[in-house]
Amino acid sequence: MCGIVGYIGPREAMGVVVSGLQRLEYRGYDSAGIAVYDAAAGLQLRRSVGKLQGLVTRLQQEPASGQLGIGHTRWATHGDVTEQNAHPHRDASGAIVVIQNGIVENYLELKTRLINLGIPFVSQTDTEVIAHLVGLYYAEEGALEPALRRALAELRGGNAIVALCAHEPERIVAARLGNAGGVVIGIGQDESFVASDVPAILDHTRDLIFLEDRELAVITREGATITTLAGERVQRAPVTIPWDPIAAARGDFTHFMEKEIHEQPRALMDALRGRIDQERGLVHLEDLRLDDAALRKLDRIYATACGTAWHAGLVAKFMIEQLARVRVEVDYASEFRYRDPVLGADALLMAFTQSGETVDTLAAMEEARAQGVPSIAIVNAIGSQAARVADGGPLYLHAGPEIGVASTKAFTSMLMVAYLFALRLAQARGTLSPSQIGTHLQALVELPSKAARLIEQAAPRCRDLAERYHRVGDALFLGRQVNYPIALEGALKLKEISYIHAEGYPAGEMKHGPIALIDEEMPVICIAPRDPIYPKMISNVEQVRARRGQVIAIGHEGDELLAAKAHHVITVPATLPLLQPVLNVIPLQLFAYYVALRRGCDVDQPRNLAKSVTVE
Ligand code: F6R
Repeated sequence: MCGIVGYIGPREAMGVVVSGLQRLEYRGYDSAGIAVYDAAAGLQLRRSVGKLQGLVTRLQQEPASGQLGIGHTRWATHGDVTEQNAHPHRDASGAIVVIQNGIVENYLELKTRLINLGIPFVSQTDTEVIAHLVGLYYAEEGALEPALRRALAELRGGNAIVALCAHEPERIVAARLGNAGGVVIGIGQDESFVASDVPAILDHTRDLIFLEDRELAVITREGATITTLAGERVQRAPVTIPWDPIAAARGDFTHFMEKEIHEQPRALMDALRGRIDQERGLVHLEDLRLDDAALRKLDRIYATACGTAWHAGLVAKFMIEQLARVRVEVDYASEFRYRDPVLGADALLMAFTQSGETVDTLAAMEEARAQGVPSIAIVNAIGSQAARVADGGPLYLHAGPEIGVASTKAFTSMLMVAYLFALRLAQARGTLSPSQIGTHLQALVELPSKAARLIEQAAPRCRDLAERYHRVGDALFLGRQVNYPIALEGALKLKEISYIHAEGYPAGEMKHGPIALIDEEMPVICIAPRDPIYPKMISNVEQVRARRGQVIAIGHEGDELLAAKAHHVITVPATLPLLQPVLNVIPLQLFAYYVALRRGCDVDQPRNLAKSVTVE
């Protein structure tokens, strides 16, 4: 959840760390802090409540000088949003500083023990416990690495931890416990970097080493030495990441979310690249690492994810069941991991995750592994934890970095990759002939240009509707079948960035309760493409009208019946029914974006949210 950056080398650490944190601010923006060491000035801590800009202003007034530094942006878990609770945290001697991403689950127990030893606490955070524990063992060991190793042995939970000590200015020590957060080390020319995410250091180097669970790294200017927590040496060569740092910048758009909505045609195309053979009606998913025999044997699939990615899983269920005739159960990862699921033989877990770092999704993958069920990951972040632990896949989205906290392009790319997977499964199981697959591929290939046309036409329309409806307190989103998850997604987008209460419902369920909410103020967004369920959806539209609700319909171009029944229609190009969600969601993203903009909300960094949810 929190952002972490560290630097050691010939340059001023402050600039490198702050610019890295700028790339990570989407992860948490409750407070920010930095610790920089210099032989003359010693350890200098600067912390500030609120967004990173507050810290930048503070550093302008009171710069910190030195060539060794670590910094942090916080998404609060323990303790209020105050300067005292901002990272870095010091040990009692003041020589050791620690930053952390994750949760120390047994921090209260450890804190009581440390207080009983006479160690005074200045914050309410769990991270301060780590700093004091390291300090305690430093007094016995006389070195940071073994001190941190001993402290780690006592922590429960998932943590990414970075520490430095004023008595050892030639090193940073970093460690990773569990799945709470990644640690990536960047190897440069006579300089090294450490961060929670790749974009933080991509401007400086693309040669990266990823720490695995229960590993510790001693990072110097020359590189990194990695060991397990038990002290065994790990040999791991850096991997080179092909991302373009410019893709992580906002370009001409006002917000990352807007940019990412507009990037969807490109992202949809990239999801297809190299994976289809239209002439022969074949899908190639080389990364899948499951052969035809394994795919034929599959009896059921568990799709698991959180939030928007969970909605992608719901859509994937329709795709896989209808195209490949394999049954699919969809679970919230946070529920799956604790419900002691009975998975059975010949099952497969499909994890959907943009970041590849969502702790509940990773835990669901672990649960599957514990029951002998292989998992595949539909994932965007290259080299992320989900990508690395999946047995098959990763099936990368290739959507490029998604910075806006509200997921947009990763969602539609997940739908594309899920569709490809469903076709691949259908190919192996013979539920579709090559010529039928060819028809589906043609529809997939046409989708990026349809999405481009849709964005161009729908953006001004959604801006106008936002002008008309941005003051409402509630909104209802209705859809049926494969468009029901799109109703959920439309509602989630609106509530998370505009703070308007919104609910998504299967349209047929409306009359069993939510219809009571409808009055002349209430916008009801009805997703009504001309698919087999269309006549039922039209009946639902009429039911809303009869209660004087304001109907905003998403329907096919040229649908005059719908135009006559709704107050407003946003038209979308037609495609195959199972692919229609990819297009239908785009006006909902745009509507949410313009409503939030009109309400003056912080679109890219909505309150209380963070991009990678690495805590439970
Ligand atoms: C909503 C949103 C979240 C994420 C969820 C899972 O716009 O982005 O609901 O979808 O936190 O994140 P990932 O996909 O990174 O596992």
